[in-house]
Amino acid sequence: MSNYLIVGAAGQLGIELMLALQKKHGPERVVLGDIRPVDHPDAALSTFVQCDATDKKAMADLVDQVQPAEMYMLVAMLSAKGEASPLQAWGLNMDPLLHALELAKDGRVPKVFWPSSIAVFGPDAPKDATPQNNGLRPTTVYGVSKVSGELWCQYYHQKYGVDVRSLRYPGLIGFRSKPGGGTTDYAVEAFHSAVEGRPLHCYLESTETLPMMTMEDAVRATLELMAADGDALSVRTSYNLQGCSFSPAELVSELRAQGVSLDVMYAPDTRQDIAASWPNSLDDSAARSDWGWRSAHDTPGLVGAILAGLSQPAIG
Ligand SMILES: NC(=O)c1ccc[n+]([C@@H]2O[C@H](COP(=O)([O-])OP(=O)(O)OC[C@H]3O[C@@H](n4cnc5c(N)ncnc54)[C@H](O)[C@@H]3O)[C@@H](O)[C@H]2O)c1
Repeated sequence: MSNYLIVGAAGQLGIELMLALQKKHGPERVVLGDIRPVDHPDAALSTFVQCDATDKKAMADLVDQVQPAEMYMLVAMLSAKGEASPLQAWGLNMDPLLHALELAKDGRVPKVFWPSSIAVFGPDAPKDATPQNNGLRPTTVYGVSKVSGELWCQYYHQKYGVDVRSLRYPGLIGFRSKPGGGTTDYAVEAFHSAVEGRPLHCYLESTETLPMMTMEDAVRATLELMAADGDALSVRTSYNLQGCSFSPAELVSELRAQGVSLDVMYAPDTRQDIAASWPNSLDDSAARSDWGWRSAHDTPGLVGAILAGLSQPAIG
């Protein structure tokens, strides 16, 4: 029986991936690793191991204990937080990935997933339908670490045959957990503010368009990529992934169209500069043709899905 290891399992994405892997393989096959506990009732159904992913020996011991068929290495310091502590962000965004790649190279993990981001693109990349390989000159340490990580993934694949797979996620919007210090966090906060009847203090300009996706869609893309035939994968850096794109003003307007009012006070800060350096939308034709990716939600669909999620009874 195969085991599935998530490191960074207590984060926004980790909790969603935990639920999906528990459903697909059974909770007893899923092992959760993080420096902090996983704040969701269903986490108790799986084994939790407190671990520091920057510690090479701790990661090796964890992998030897779990013997995972697949390892999902999600640990990172996100874009806005990273700008406050660039060298710390570089260490946290690179070391856990390199430990995972080394363990895979030694044959101790057959398949690794590591997330990249739209932050790999810099201000000189085409803004609309940004191509897979244009303008990878980011201006944030988060983006620099993601470009470097992508190249390490490709290097380990080409040189050692490591099966590591990656997606460039857009801004991910879920309803289960609080955002973790990214530039697209405002959108998650907008939903919580709207449902709780609070005004939103938005740190982006009202017209700043960014690519976005539901957590549900991002997890589906992840599992589809991991299940794909490796020989069909032409991209071994990281695949562009497009869901839908909207600005804060368009999000507010769509919320209103779905019967939810939200007052917004705009006070752009340094996160606006980060957002301005990123694409409006991505060309994800490689993901579509190589492993059949199709986004489930346009903007109204995303807004409806998150509102429906928030209206469920609290589950963690
Ligand atoms: N959330 C997004 O919108 C988004 C967009 C693009 C890419 N991504 C990528 O997806 C991944 C997950 O993002 P997220 O939003 O869930 O982030 P998050 O900040 O919510 O979660 C990261 C998790 O890593 C854990 N962690 C931190 N340091 C650790 C260490 N030394 N050892 C073990 N665990 C440690 C944290 O406790 C946290 O639970 C990251 O690689 C991120 O770059 C996220």
